[in-house]
Amino acid sequence: MAIRTIRIDGDPILSKKSRTVEKFDESLNQLIEDMFETMYEADGVGLAAVQIGILKRLLVMDDYEGTKKVLINPVIESHEGWEPGIEGCLSVPDKNGIVERYKKITVSYQDQEGNPQTLEAEDLVARIIQHEMDHLNGILYTEVATTTDPDETEAFLRAQYAREVPEDGEEKGE
Ligand code: NI
Repeated sequence: MAIRTIRIDGDPILSKKSRTVEKFDESLNQLIEDMFETMYEADGVGLAAVQIGILKRLLVMDDYEGTKKVLINPVIESHEGWEPGIEGCLSVPDKNGIVERYKKITVSYQDQEGNPQTLEAEDLVARIIQHEMDHLNGILYTEVATTTDPDETEAFLRAQYAREVPEDGEEKGE
C-alpha cells in the first residue's frame, strides 16, 4: 500500500474525463487499496481515481457511519429530490461551498471483481457519490456550487445546525 499524491485544483488532469475500467485485476486492487489509504490519510470521505492522477472511472468512499464502498464505472439510474448541502474537496484545500444535489439516487456500478451491482443512497452518501462522479467527468464542485463564498457557506452551516439541534439542545434521533 502507498499513499499517493493528491492532485490540486489547477492541475489539468482534474478537468479530464476518466475512462471506463475494463480490467479487473491485481493492479486495480492495488490502486483501490492506495486510494483508501490516501483518502483516510487526508481525512476525506471520498476520492476519485483522477484525484491521484489515474483517469479511470473509479471512486472510493466512506461516510464513517458504516457505508464504505468502491464504485467502478458508476451510472445514476434514477434520482429523487434536490437539495443544497455543504461540500469540500481534497483537491481544493481550505475551501467549502454549497452545492445542490439529488437527495436520493440509485446507482449501478461494478464492484472490485467486475460484478454488476446496484446501490440506493441518500443524503450524505448520495452527495459523496455525486461529487465523486463529477470528478470522473472532469468537474470540480466549485464549478457547480451555488456559492463558495465563506460567509454564505458559514451562514448556511449555522442555519443547518440550528435546524438539527433545536434551542433546547436536544438532537433529533437517528
Ligand atoms: Ni472532490
